[in-house]
Amino acid sequence: MSDKRTMLIVAGDGIGPEVMSEVLRVIEWLDKRLGIPFDVKQGLVGGASIDAKGTPLSDETMALALEVDAVLLGAVGGPRWDSLPFEKKPERGLLRLRKDMALFANLRPAPVFDALVDASPLKPEIVRGLDIVIVRELTGGVYFGEPRGIETLPGGGRRGVNTQVYTTDEIRRIARVGFELAAKRSGRVCSVEKSNVMESGLLWRQEVQALHDADFAHIELSHMYADNCAMQLIRDPRQFDVIVTDNLFGDMLSDEAAMLTGSLGMLPSASLGEADAKGRRRALYEPVHGSAPDIAGRGVANPLASLLSFAMCLRWSFNLTEEAALIEAAVTGVLGGGLRTADIMQPGKARVSTRVMGESVVRELDKLIS
Ligand code: IPM
Ligand code: MG
Repeated sequence: MSDKRTMLIVAGDGIGPEVMSEVLRVIEWLDKRLGIPFDVKQGLVGGASIDAKGTPLSDETMALALEVDAVLLGAVGGPRWDSLPFEKKPERGLLRLRKDMALFANLRPAPVFDALVDASPLKPEIVRGLDIVIVRELTGGVYFGEPRGIETLPGGGRRGVNTQVYTTDEIRRIARVGFELAAKRSGRVCSVEKSNVMESGLLWRQEVQALHDADFAHIELSHMYADNCAMQLIRDPRQFDVIVTDNLFGDMLSDEAAMLTGSLGMLPSASLGEADAKGRRRALYEPVHGSAPDIAGRGVANPLASLLSFAMCLRWSFNLTEEAALIEAAVTGVLGGGLRTADIMQPGKARVSTRVMGESVVRELDKLIS
């Protein structure tokens, strides 16, 4: 990692390139208006990389990702590549980035913006003021566990296998991220597993509790089964602050939490590695929403999740806390002004395109610094 601020943008597939264009607009603004330059490289991932290079992530792009201070990803996947063999699918590109960069900690904040309270499918009194973070383990569990595969049985039938596996170290390092984050927030952590049916879940519960008792006794820790958590997120989401959970449960619960906020199109994420001696971490930032092939290329996608992911990048990778807050304030301002992309459209508001939303955020940024 160099002393210049270096970034790799891999826009990927579907709406990825459209929303990342708006991030580039804000990157340019930071340079021009605040004198904060970034050295930005671009690369291919997912289906875009398959089409150009025959692989969902080339070794050169992987090497670049390991060199830069931060990677910004759009989205991967789409129906065009659905019939490819498993190891060649676009998603493998993203999973390789996570694994080879050792990004074990995935932070998925789900705040409800006041202006969007009515866009949530839940009643306003249930979601108003909601502000939770899901801390998802990202490099272990059933996503990567061995053995895995599909085999043919003697009788001609087949057998599909995946392995849910976690070690003490894997559990403790993600729990530590959750506790440290909670210490800066309301001081509450809920650890989520299925210790009633899975040994790996039982180990998870025991290790999280042990770490808590040893190092984080000042944090309030509760445990919850994943199925109950899915229900509680709908029944009373504000009971949660930081949720720490494994790779698969985190994948599912974060989609659910996203919907509480009104749209998957609003949710950013940060995936972080272990801090080095200087306190710097490998990091990848991406919107939670995915490639949305049904609306790709039409200029109607919501770029706010990507812009909020970039704000997380400024905060976590570059320590540009004020600038991150500025982008978040600009997003709040634009929503308060009544602009909406299709996914968060409400009666009486102005429906705008991806580009107009991006331009409006930049205009709001101008206003905020003047
Ligand atoms: C996510 C996505 C990915 C996952 C897919 C695209 C591999 O759903 O980031 O939540 O399952 O982790
Ligand atoms: Mg997911």
